Amino acid sequence: MSSRLQYGHTAKVFHWLIVALLVVQYLIGWLMPDIHRGMQPGVLMTMHLSFGLSILLLIMLRFVWRLTHPVAPESSLPSWQRLSSELVHWLLYILVLATTVTGWLFASFRGWSVSFFYLFPFPMLASDNAAAGRAIDGLHQVAEWTLLVFIGLHVLAALVHLFVYRNGVMQRMLPG
Ligand code: HEM
Ligand code: HEM
Repeated sequence: MSSRLQYGHTAKVFHWLIVALLVVQYLIGWLMPDIHRGMQPGVLMTMHLSFGLSILLLIMLRFVWRLTHPVAPESSLPSWQRLSSELVHWLLYILVLATTVTGWLFASFRGWSVSFFYLFPFPMLASDNAAAGRAIDGLHQVAEWTLLVFIGLHVLAALVHLFVYRNGVMQRMLPG
């Protein structure tokens, strides 16, 4: 399949929609009360799970879009920058997947009964299992912090292209 030279409208909508949802998701994650034994999820946790599942569905759709609509790297980039940006983009997909799946497993093993945005029952991946819950405890935090580090690197690189190299990389993901 031949690569396009620019990101299309759909790729840009996917990119910025997921950025906005991740901002909301981190804020809710840090604001919601700590988990303790026997607790039932409140409004913030219900929202966190619902936004999390939406992010997972969107990132999978976006990944299929990326595979079927490949975009060539900016032509002026040296090969080390092409390689490193490709690597970071792949890692971002993998880390969003890891963060959502570890969160979903953690919630499933607690045996919670939650609804998706108060619309219909939230689909859980497994039933109540305290031992499995203990085994994966902490993995969601590791995933969410690793994702944040790579988002930081990615944003830093975008800013360096915009203000230091002054090339068209940032423009490729902006509307228009
Ligand atoms: C990329 C998407 C997600 C991000 C960025 C994210 C982020 C966070 C953050 C920042 C916290 C607070 C933990 C801390 O104090 O460090 C948290 C906790 C939690 N999240 Fe997520 N989350 C995501 C997806 C999900 C999903 C899909 C689920 C479940 C369906 C989920 C379930 C939970 C649960 C149960 C907790 C509390 C237990 C724990 O801290 O491990 N999260 N998440
Ligand atoms: C303010 C925050 C952000 C800025 C300024 C930004 C900027 C950019 C730019 C300029 C590109 C195009 C790079 C190229 O020429 O190929 C890009 C691509 C990309 N960005 Fe971001 N980004 C941000 C946040 C995020 C976040 C939070 C994610 C996490 C999922 C992300 C994931 C990606 C991916 C995977 C690509 C590759 C294109 C694709 O596969 O769809 N970005 N970003």
